[in-house]
Amino acid sequence: MVDSVIWDIGYLVSAALFILGIKRLSSPKTAPQGNRLGAYGMSLAVAVTMAKLYNEGIIGLELIIGGLAIGSIIGILMATRVEMTGMPELVALFNGFGGGASALVALSEVLNRIETNEIPLEGTVELYATWVAIGLSGLVGWLTLTGSLMAMGKLRGGFYIPFTKKDDRGRSKWVSFPTWGPPWLNVVKSILLLAGFSLIWLSINDPTNKDLVYALVATSSLLGVLFVIPIGGADMPVVVSLLNSMSGIAAAFTGFVIGNNVLIIAGSMVGAAGLILTFIMCKAMNRTLTAVLFKSFGGGGKESVTRTKVGSDPEEVAMVCDGITKCVIIPGYGMAVSQAQHAVKEFADLLESEGVEVQYGIHPVAGRMPGHMNVLLAEANVPYEQLIEMDDINSELPETDVALVIGANDTVNPVARSGDGPLGGMPIIDADKARVVVIIKRSLSVGYAGVDNDLFYENKTMMLFGDGKKMMNELNAAIKEL
Ligand code: TAP
Repeated sequence: MVDSVIWDIGYLVSAALFILGIKRLSSPKTAPQGNRLGAYGMSLAVAVTMAKLYNEGIIGLELIIGGLAIGSIIGILMATRVEMTGMPELVALFNGFGGGASALVALSEVLNRIETNEIPLEGTVELYATWVAIGLSGLVGWLTLTGSLMAMGKLRGGFYIPFTKKDDRGRSKWVSFPTWGPPWLNVVKSILLLAGFSLIWLSINDPTNKDLVYALVATSSLLGVLFVIPIGGADMPVVVSLLNSMSGIAAAFTGFVIGNNVLIIAGSMVGAAGLILTFIMCKAMNRTLTAVLFKSFGGGGKESVTRTKVGSDPEEVAMVCDGITKCVIIPGYGMAVSQAQHAVKEFADLLESEGVEVQYGIHPVAGRMPGHMNVLLAEANVPYEQLIEMDDINSELPETDVALVIGANDTVNPVARSGDGPLGGMPIIDADKARVVVIIKRSLSVGYAGVDNDLFYENKTMMLFGDGKKMMNELNAAIKEL
């Protein structure tokens, strides 16, 4: 009795830490603290669970120490080795792990109950509640696992096959996934979803039948792959945040299965937060969630660019920036790749010292993860008030002398206004409305969605071809020399 109170207090404190942590994530200034609070909450929840299981004689010390050691080493290695640009893949993988863990708990629970004949009596509410919770935990969990692995593969361009001959970039052979979604695929997905629910229903009526359990595992796993395969191009952020939400929902169902309150609370919070983020992403892409899930976007990209454009040099751009009154910096994925944020801040400082008003236009899906640009610019001490959201900066761009686009492509591509193709209908930052557009990138090649960008070829556009950080440093040096 005393023990159970201690565990409940531990879980209550960790749930309170999660809630405080999420609250603190709402502002960039308090976000690092929010992250820490969440981590403390999770550590406490894990510690309480381990102590509880040990106390109840369910697991021994070897398993606790071994599990914690293996998990911590893998977690530390992954988190410290990942490049900032590889974060979305890591997030996708962690979503998959979350879903997979819930699915495995549900699977072991149902198999254990069948083996030990701990099945609630036929027709009772307990049987319905337990079997529905186990079934949904499995359905959502397996779907999240395979869908997330698919999303991770798509984000990184494919999976490599180990032990195959390496290419000239040192990588083994890749299997890449096409963005493929014929209209009949929706029918297949709907049938599989219906089959998943039917299997749960059938297993309530035949609770000892293991074949129904394995059939649910197969159906949900296939569904995860088929849900993600038609989504591509610029819509990946929507699917990744949806999968994040689903990993939380699966965990909450698992909480019901094993009667763990903190799992129900944490899972519901992840589910709700992920769903909010999904809708923010949908709004940013000007899509409905149903359109993302049931239409195939993103195919047909990767056009080969045959047009040419003469590049400018840093001295020429420095002269254009001399004497201007307003500059808007529009960062994108290339700024993250080249780690140019400090050089960008130096550029802004140089202009501001000459009395130029400098702002940053932040597109909601710039980069490869939500808030990617905000995190990088905060690292370079860019004041948060200078980071302006898309709608607000767009009303300023017609009055802007220079729009400096660094490593952004899809998020400034005017073709999105046409409503066609992988970017069709996505709102963009109106860089093309500024008097002069300076674009820093290495070539004329396409961005994430694989669509050529007319902005590069406009007369008002000056292309600075080269690595983002290198070109920013050269531009800063040229400005100092003026
Ligand atoms: P992108 O359209 O991906 O374009 C980035 C550009 O950066 C590329 O065209 C590339 O051109 C350039 N680049 C790469 N390395 C560079 C370097 N070292 N120095 C300078 N430039 C470099 O970027 P964006 O405008 O930020 O748009 C983001 C895209 O990713 C959207 O389509 C979005 O939907 C998608 N996406 C976003 C997320 C989230 S949540 N933000 C997640 C997944 C996908 P060069 O090769 O010519 O240099």
